[in-house]
Amino acid sequence: MKDVIIEAKEVKKTLGRGAGQVQALRGIDLSLRKGELTLLMGPSGSGKTTLLLILGCMLTPSSGTVAVCGVSTSDADKEGLAKIRRDHIGFVFQSYHLFPTLTAAQNVQLALDIRDHRGRDAAKKAREALALVGLEQKAKALPDSLSGGEQQRVAIARAFVANPSVILADEPTSALDSDNGRAIMHILSEAAHERDRAVLVVTHDPRIVPFADRIIEIEDGVLVAGKAGEPEPARMPKAAAWP
Ligand SMILES: Nc1ncnc2c1ncn2[C@@H]1O[C@H](COP(=O)(O)OP(=O)(O)OP(=O)(O)O)[C@@H](O)[C@H]1O
Ligand SMILES: [Mg+2]
Repeated sequence: MKDVIIEAKEVKKTLGRGAGQVQALRGIDLSLRKGELTLLMGPSGSGKTTLLLILGCMLTPSSGTVAVCGVSTSDADKEGLAKIRRDHIGFVFQSYHLFPTLTAAQNVQLALDIRDHRGRDAAKKAREALALVGLEQKAKALPDSLSGGEQQRVAIARAFVANPSVILADEPTSALDSDNGRAIMHILSEAAHERDRAVLVVTHDPRIVPFADRIIEIEDGVLVAGKAGEPEPARMPKAAAWP
């Protein structure tokens, strides 16, 4: 079995208060492994984003445990969780979350800055990450002057640049047309298969299915298919991806 990067056990999460309280997750067991691209699919409101935020140490579970690279998040305080995020996690938000007054390169470099990695070498790394997503020529562009697909690629470069063990992406193609969506999935697939990262992609988009090594389905806060620990299924043919 490939190396486990994130392991979640019996994770439950209650959100809201009083009458508005929701059991968003009801006991999730899940392992994410190096070199594997996993899709998390399920209806709206089923708990996908909540699970991604918990795996990414941005939200703590109400009960259950999460371990990232063997380090349990249960005992970590706010600063401890921030350290786990900095050391291991790259997160891609659906809505890009780029800073509008910073250039593409500066947005990417910010991910190094918060890890105390500055100066010329950081600038070089940011340019290399942009080149990886095909945006070398747009390093000085502001987000406003980039297309949605280009902004998403900047967000992915930012998630990659600090060399995280795992990349968590929340519906990274939902705002994109077919060509841009396919380009994004090729980049994420390469991250898993050629750079040996664990990649988890939340999606509603059936066109992404051919990129997956494993598909997990969630319904009403419970995994209904593709549970943790299953043997890796045969990789599906990439040629069928995105007509
Ligand atoms: N801050 C909150 N307070 C109360 N309930 C919340 C909160 N955030 C999410 N929820 C509820 O928790 C459940 C899971 O939400 P979540 O955002 O994880 O779903 P999702 O699968 O990502 O949905 P979508 O596909 O629409 O993005 C939903 O019922 C949602 O309404
Ligand atoms: Mg969501």
